[in-house]
Amino acid sequence: MSITRRLERVYNIEDMRKLAQGALPGPIWHYLDGGADDEITMARNSGAFNDWALAQSTLVDVTSTDTTCDLIGMPAAMPLMLSPTGMSQLFHASGELSVARAAGAAGVPYGLSTMATTSMEAIARSGVSRYFQLYLFRDRGLTEALLERAKTYGYSAIALTTDTNVAGNRERDLRSGMVMPPRFTLDSLLSFAAHPRWALGALRNRSFELANIVQHVGDLDASGTNVIDYVNGQFDRSASWRDLEWLRARWQGKLVVKGAMLPADCEAAVDCGADAIMVSNHGGRQLDGTGAPIDYLPAIRDRVQDRAQLIIDGGIRRGTHVLKALALGANGCSIGRPYLYGLAAGGQLGVERVLKLFRSEIERGMALMGRRRVDEITSRDIHHLSAFARLPVSVAARDRKEVPELNDR
Ligand SMILES: Cc1cc2nc3c(=O)[nH]c(=O)nc-3n(C[C@H](O)[C@H](O)[C@H](O)COP(=O)(O)O)c2cc1C
Repeated sequence: MSITRRLERVYNIEDMRKLAQGALPGPIWHYLDGGADDEITMARNSGAFNDWALAQSTLVDVTSTDTTCDLIGMPAAMPLMLSPTGMSQLFHASGELSVARAAGAAGVPYGLSTMATTSMEAIARSGVSRYFQLYLFRDRGLTEALLERAKTYGYSAIALTTDTNVAGNRERDLRSGMVMPPRFTLDSLLSFAAHPRWALGALRNRSFELANIVQHVGDLDASGTNVIDYVNGQFDRSASWRDLEWLRARWQGKLVVKGAMLPADCEAAVDCGADAIMVSNHGGRQLDGTGAPIDYLPAIRDRVQDRAQLIIDGGIRRGTHVLKALALGANGCSIGRPYLYGLAAGGQLGVERVLKLFRSEIERGMALMGRRRVDEITSRDIHHLSAFARLPVSVAARDRKEVPELNDR
């Protein structure tokens, strides 16, 4: 069956996940799909949305719905953007360029990772609304050079990732012996041979490298560096709030902190000059056992008020997840694995399909909630499930309006 036909039969992100799993050799699949330790946080990121119920306002004229908004200073066709993910050429030889083109076609911002396998220049040429994700390297000269290039190539924001001072414990990668770039060892050959389409793409792809830092880190292929060893070796473990101030002083565009979760940390980031926070635990790939971004969101919004945009990142798999996040005070959401599933399954077409699914789910959800615009979605549109536990069981109790937050429409 052709790729187009297969993609047409993808009705949700879980369908796309299965298609991606079938397309990728085991070690690559587990690197994409896995999380840290017992993957409890990874599961909670999506699962926590089930603790909240959307309110369903009825008999509202929703002849037209408008999903447009502004995300970190960039116009967006819907309240969704693409998170930075390293080494996208692992999943499809066309890598970051396909993702950027699909994002551009869908009108959503794209975040290019420091660890990308496509250059900042090439992504800029695609014309997508873009921001650059920065890791603080021990080599500050490298960090400054990246900032300079981000400015030259029109990246409107820098997102500083703050949750990766050491690498998370990804046991799936340890078991599969995942190295970067993938090695054609005897062990992996069988798995690669079982995925000829992927293997052919990888073999033909001569440009696999960490395109934006290659001059500084050298040839990883030669050293066969394990991802974890690499992160532990290069990233600055001593990074502190002073470094955020250092960055603020050097970057005139929008500044985003990616990886703050606690209300006090988010407030501190804003005090240091951050324009937005990506509330994120790296998709459950770093500290296992921490809560989901959506768990923290209401308290963060209370704390920072309207001083910064809040973007929820991690576990977003449905349009209704986005709508719940908006109702709890987010300005938008961001996705990582979902677009990588699309990339692995069908290159640019696969990513386009993922974004189309989100777009239609968000639009449909808004209509069913009786909301026409993104900024109409507020706290009246959501209830925590614990609110229902207080529902009176008798009609008499109900008539005394013991649950005003549910009755007050
Ligand atoms: C394969 C993969 C690579 C990633 N690489 C990076 C990276 O280079 N920089 C970064 O800040 N976050 C990285 N992330 C985290 C994402 O930006 C994002 O926080 C996460 O994927 C969101 O969770 P979700 O996958 O459940 O949507 C990566 C995630 C994945 C799955």
